[in-house]
Amino acid sequence: MSRVAIAGAGHVGLVYAGGLADLGHTIRVIDVDRSRVALLRRGSLGFFEPGLGDLLRRGMRRRRITFTTSYADALHGAEFVFVCVPTPSTSDGSLDDSMLRGAFDLIRRHRGEPSPVVVNKSTVPVGTGDLAAQLFSDLGMSVVSNPEFLSEGRALEDFYHPSRIVLGSRDRAAADAVRRLYAGIRAPVVYTDNATAEFSKLAANAFLATKVSFANSVAKLSGRVGADVDALTHILSLDPRIGQGHLRAGLGFGGSCLPKDVAAVEHLARRHGADPGLFTAVTRVNVDQRSQVVDLLVARYGSLAGRRVAILGVAYKPGTDDVRDAPAVALGQQLLALHAEVAVYDPAAHAVIRADGIRARQARSAFGAARGADAIVFATEWPELAGLDLPRLRRVMRGDVLIDGRGLIHPSLAKEAGFDYFGFGRVGRPPD
Ligand SMILES: NC(=O)c1ccc[n+]([C@@H]2O[C@H](COP(=O)([O-])OP(=O)(O)OC[C@H]3O[C@@H](n4cnc5c(N)ncnc54)[C@H](O)[C@@H]3O)[C@@H](O)[C@H]2O)c1
Repeated sequence: MSRVAIAGAGHVGLVYAGGLADLGHTIRVIDVDRSRVALLRRGSLGFFEPGLGDLLRRGMRRRRITFTTSYADALHGAEFVFVCVPTPSTSDGSLDDSMLRGAFDLIRRHRGEPSPVVVNKSTVPVGTGDLAAQLFSDLGMSVVSNPEFLSEGRALEDFYHPSRIVLGSRDRAAADAVRRLYAGIRAPVVYTDNATAEFSKLAANAFLATKVSFANSVAKLSGRVGADVDALTHILSLDPRIGQGHLRAGLGFGGSCLPKDVAAVEHLARRHGADPGLFTAVTRVNVDQRSQVVDLLVARYGSLAGRRVAILGVAYKPGTDDVRDAPAVALGQQLLALHAEVAVYDPAAHAVIRADGIRARQARSAFGAARGADAIVFATEWPELAGLDLPRLRRVMRGDVLIDGRGLIHPSLAKEAGFDYFGFGRVGRPPD
C-alpha cells in the first residue's frame, strides 16, 4: 500500500482521498484554505456529495486520512502527490492555471525523499503536463496526467466504476505505478502522452455540452413544427450511436466544468488557428436557453419590475449542492437586473446559496418560494420537484406561468392544474 499526498480538498481531491484510503492507501490531504482543513478535521465535508462524508470519516477512523495545510508535512514520505486544485475560466476562455502553478511550486520546494510522482487530476490547458515534466525533470520527478471524468452527485460510483482511466506520461513506469494505486478498480486503461490525456478531458466535456445544445436546438424547432421534444430525443437516444446521456432539452448545462471546458476548447482552437465555430455555437445556444425564459416573461408581462418569479432548484443538477455557474443562478441574476423579485428554493443548496450571497429570497419549500409568484421556473431536475402537488402550487401563486426548464412536469397535467405552460419544445402526449 502507498502513501499519497493530495493537494486540493475539494470535490475531486476528497473523492480520491476517500476512495484511495478505502483501497488501503494512506492519504494526507493538503489545502491552502485553513478553514476548510479545520472543518474536514472535525469530520465535516462542507458540501453535499452522496456517501462521501461517511467514506472520509471511515478513512479518518482507520487513521488512513489526515488533513493539513503544510506541504512539507503532507509530502514527507509520500510516493505520489495528486494535484486537484481549481482551474477556473478567465475572461478570454482560457483556463487559469495560477493555482496549479502555485501547487507545483510548493511541491518542488517541499518534496520529500524519495521524491513523489506528480499525478495531475485538475483539468488543465493542453501542454501543462509537458511543461510540468520539464519543471520537475532536474529533481528526477515524473509527471502523470490522469484527467478526472467524475460527475458530481455520483462521484463515488464514478470512482469505483470509472468509464476509463487515462494515464498520460513520458514515463511508462510512473504511469504503471499510478495504475497499481487503482488496483481493484476495473476499467479500460488508456496509456498515452500528456497532451492527449489533457485534451481528452476537455474534448469529452465539449462533446457532452454539444449534445445538450443539440437537444436544445432541435427543441426550439420541435415546438415550431408541432413535434414533442421528449418523444423526439427518446427516439434519438435508442440509437446506440447517439445514446441517452445529455440529450434533454431545457435550461441548458452549467456547473464548474462544462461551461469552462467548452470555453477552453474554443480558446484552444483560436490560439492554434483552428475553426472554433462549433464550440462558439454550443455556448451561444446554451446562453440563449436562459434568455428564452426572460423573453417569455417580458412578452407576457411587459416590464418585470415588481413581478415575482420563483425558481425551483438552484443546484446545477440534482444530487449536488453545487451552484457554480448554475443556469438557475444566471437566470436569477438576469431577472433581478430587470427588477423582478426572485424567490428560490433548492432541496440541498440552502447553505451554499446563503454563503454565495445570492440576492434572492430563499424559501424553505417549493410552496414557500411560489407563494404570491407570477411565474415559476423549474430549473433543476430534483425528483422532489417532479412530485409536487400542481393544483396546490397554482393556488398559492398570484399568476399562472409555469416554465419547465427540465422536463419535470407533464404539459397536460400542468394545464389541468390551471397553468400557462412553457416547456422548451414539449408539446406533451396524454399521460400514460
Ligand atoms: N468538480 C468536478 O465535478 C470535477 C470533475 C472533473 C474534473 N474537475 C477538475 O478538477 C479540478 C478541481 O476541481 P474541484 O471541483 O475539486 O475544485 P474545488 O473548488 O471543489 O476544490 C479545490 C480545492 O483546492 C484548494 N486549493 C487551491 N489552491 C491550492 C493549492 N495551491 N494547494 C492546495 N489546495 C489548493 C481550494 O482551497 C479548494 O478547497 C479542476 O481543475 C476541475 O476542473 C472537477
